[in-house]
Amino acid sequence: KQICELAYQGATTAVSVAEKLLNEAIEKHGAETLVKYPDTAYKLPIITALGSEEVLTLGDLIPVLQRIKENNLRPEPELGNALLSGEATLYAGEIIEALRYVAGAKPDEPPYTGFLSDPVLRKFGVPLVDGTIPGVAVITGKAKDSKAGAKLVKDLQAKGIMVMLVNDIIEQCIAEEIKVGVDYITFPLGKFTQIIHAVNFATRAGLAFGGVPSGAREQMIDYQKRRVPAFVIALGELDAVTVAIGAGALFFGFPIVTDQDLPSELQIPGLLEAQPDYDKIVKLALELRGIKLKIVDIPVPITIGPAFEGETIRKKDAYVEFGGGRSTSFELVRMMSADEVEDGKIELIGPDIDEMPEGSVFPIGFMIDIYGRKMQEDFEGVLERRVHYNINYGEGLWHVAQRDMCWVRISKGAKAAGFKIRDFGEILIAKYKSDYPAIVDRVQVTIVTDKDIIEEKIKIAREKYKARDARLKGLTDESVDVFYSCLLCQSFAPNHVCIVTPQRVGLCGAVSWLDAKASNEITPTGPNQPIPKGECLDEAKGMWQSMNEFVYNSSNRTLEEVNLYTLMDRPMTSCGCFEAILAILPLCNGVMITTREHSGDTPCGMTFSTLAGTCGGGVQTPGFMGIGRTYLTSSKFISADGGLGRIVWMPKDLKEYLGQDLVDAAVAAGLGADFVDKIADETVGITEDEILPFLEEKQHPALTMKPLM
Ligand code: SF4
Ligand code: NI
Ligand code: NI
Repeated sequence: KQICELAYQGATTAVSVAEKLLNEAIEKHGAETLVKYPDTAYKLPIITALGSEEVLTLGDLIPVLQRIKENNLRPEPELGNALLSGEATLYAGEIIEALRYVAGAKPDEPPYTGFLSDPVLRKFGVPLVDGTIPGVAVITGKAKDSKAGAKLVKDLQAKGIMVMLVNDIIEQCIAEEIKVGVDYITFPLGKFTQIIHAVNFATRAGLAFGGVPSGAREQMIDYQKRRVPAFVIALGELDAVTVAIGAGALFFGFPIVTDQDLPSELQIPGLLEAQPDYDKIVKLALELRGIKLKIVDIPVPITIGPAFEGETIRKKDAYVEFGGGRSTSFELVRMMSADEVEDGKIELIGPDIDEMPEGSVFPIGFMIDIYGRKMQEDFEGVLERRVHYNINYGEGLWHVAQRDMCWVRISKGAKAAGFKIRDFGEILIAKYKSDYPAIVDRVQVTIVTDKDIIEEKIKIAREKYKARDARLKGLTDESVDVFYSCLLCQSFAPNHVCIVTPQRVGLCGAVSWLDAKASNEITPTGPNQPIPKGECLDEAKGMWQSMNEFVYNSSNRTLEEVNLYTLMDRPMTSCGCFEAILAILPLCNGVMITTREHSGDTPCGMTFSTLAGTCGGGVQTPGFMGIGRTYLTSSKFISADGGLGRIVWMPKDLKEYLGQDLVDAAVAAGLGADFVDKIADETVGITEDEILPFLEEKQHPALTMKPLM
């Protein structure tokens, strides 16, 4: 009851602060001034999700606050009222924070991130659904001491949990040299009301992936309770406003663990529990949220977790580096017979790190031999690409590119922690065995750092790559009997179905046909199901009876038909975590594409975020489609609409990213090697009017194609 009273008090305070700040802002900027967060399609996400009002300007916020004051602030000490107080506090927090961004202000000073943009949300879509990131922790307040706070955060990072930090815990982490920032999936949001950015992030998951319509309050609450694996750790004293914010978390079903010694009558079992012992906080929070972890103990002296994937190690911070064009390097996964693989064996051929001077460059070759009863040669490439992630997950290890282009650095920090070359082997072996138990029975790793022997070994690797590429070339949509579904994103986007074919990668860019096939082998009842092609209803547009049936049954009967090779007619749906998005440009008779990385305006009049907001949640939106970037280089790329020749605009970065593959695809499509230069980019223009003369001058093929619509 006392908690309810505190929540009411706190909410009342928060709402009156919001009101005061709103009035001041209106006085200063005028009621007509627009109010929205930067780089989002969802305006003020919490109000968009929960409220019925359309909020564009400061003035629009007045009736919203009025409604909240009248409906949500109820003093009678009941749990229901406390939750309403919590909701009121979310509204108040959203308004207070949004006001900071009025008139294009950029209020966030590093290290604080403040509002997290839509591209950040979308980027973490796949790791959140595939379990790489099993949950989201919001830590607010001040730990009893910075060591204890840092330990808590480090523990969460090692478990792969996404961490959002608010208040003093941020400084405590920085003081203890915990790595924070978007790259580390550990977001230092800021202070006080900046906690709201954790909530509006979660809310946007429902709007962007879940297809929850704006204003569908009950549906959003349900989505948050069931699908967003978030929990709160409240450190330090609980004042009224903290309790009110906590009630806001409970309103969405996020449990709270506090380090305060709360008397049991103040706790709410399952929702608000106390755990003063720091070593037990994380365990309790995970239990309350029902998050189960797959624990893999890897005997190496550094922390391993997805938090360290995005870590960059600059040259000056590197103790030693390998490959990257400065020395020979390669990585190779090979399928072997049972007697060729001694499980767990790690062999190092060449010098270890202690014999490498600081700042030196050495060659490196990783040879990973795998035996498994269900292993197939086709899975070698799938497993080989995991080398990148598995090494990168190491704190102080950095890995880019693949095959004989790979480039690896070991930081001075990792060296000081005692990292040895053979530890690469420990990581790889542990990861393969835990991630692919059904296809990996035995693994051995040989690491070559000797500059003579590597020249021999790399020949084996190059042979393999060549054979693999030849095989991949022959792998077309026509040459296989089954396509695969991917339903992984249904945990966030319940109606979305990806159909993955040899020539169309999943829209996240992370799931190829071979990936899906391997994953089906590992978990036969999992998200990747084979769908026999059977009768084709439309060769050109790519419609099959069997795909339609599958999609219908797996989309909660919301989608009846899907075409795989067009974006104009019943196209594939999007969940929200697409790497890039296509949109038609009627004036140019073509299609443009923009990416999550490109924040600028585009000729369709929308940025990536705005465009992405129109398309997602498992709904078909003809004329718009989310795709994986490499789909662009496939000969099945919107082949019914004219294929690659339809592309009239793309960001420069994407041209660079696709590089030679894009040129090759253009040549293969008969468009000529200079086709890429006919595609406009942001340096040519960002409106249809600006790019049209360029297209005409270059005689872009789309201009003479049959009308798109
Ligand atoms: Fe999600 Fe589709 Fe990628 Fe599967 S293939 S993870 S459903 S985006
Ligand atoms: Ni790393
Ligand atoms: Ni997705």
